Amino acid sequence: MAKVSKRKRPPRSLKVFKEQLKTEQYVFDRFTLLALSKFFSQCVIKSLDFPIQSGKESIVFRATPHEDYPAKFLAVKVYMVETSDFVHMKEYIAGDPRFEVKKNRRKLVHEWVKKEYRNLLLCEKMGVLVPHPHMFKDNVLIMDYIGDAHAPAPTLKEHGPFNPAKDYAFLLGEVEKMRKNGFVHADLSEYNVLCGPEGRLWMIDLAQGVLQSHPKFEAWHARDVQNITRYFRRYGVC
Ligand SMILES: Nc1ncnc2c1ncn2[C@@H]1O[C@H](COP(=O)(O)OP(=O)(O)O)[C@@H](O)[C@H]1O
Ligand SMILES: [Mg+2]
Repeated sequence: MAKVSKRKRPPRSLKVFKEQLKTEQYVFDRFTLLALSKFFSQCVIKSLDFPIQSGKESIVFRATPHEDYPAKFLAVKVYMVETSDFVHMKEYIAGDPRFEVKKNRRKLVHEWVKKEYRNLLLCEKMGVLVPHPHMFKDNVLIMDYIGDAHAPAPTLKEHGPFNPAKDYAFLLGEVEKMRKNGFVHADLSEYNVLCGPEGRLWMIDLAQGVLQSHPKFEAWHARDVQNITRYFRRYGVC
């Protein structure tokens, strides 16, 4: 018969507290604090206001920049090295000549952040609506905040389309623009589109994106189109 443990279970609140502490240790480890401190000392960020969203691999905060910085708010995305999916990242880094597959876990995450930054810049240059990336260091990326003073922009999944036919055509147009410029988002879905002020749709979460030379370029392009089409089918526009 299995031995019953005599150790007392911690009270629920203590358990929750310990979980939170664990997450905080992952998010604000020594390296992240160092990276963040650079942004504070360089007079970029004045405060981290609140977490917008936390997932398994990253947490996105709204931040208030320094008075002299030319933005009202910023979005700060912190990747958690401890919980990042190493194997997944490798698949999207290998085959992209711009980046190196690093053996060291932390360095691979840094490469991933650099990739998201470079992809955002690239898309911005081709005229795709993405948050402007400001800078990155190690596992921290700073970009434009999409939202207003009251709340961050909801995802397409949370908000629903503003105008299904128009939004579907717009997103397909953005995907096509990327393809013509030799790029694929590779993780496009209703979860990675933000419904911003004035009915504008912003593509986010671009770390997976690869160039045309990647062997899976065509397959991932088709998957992006499929995901968007599947989502809009329920609105009867495709
Ligand atoms: N630039 C931004 N402005 C406002 N909110 C953002 C921004 N970037 C991300 N978010 C919020 O953070 C969430 C997670 O960001 P995302 O880049 O999709 O990371 P993940 O890899 O966790 O999916 C988004 O669903 C959105 O709610
Ligand atoms: Mg996402």
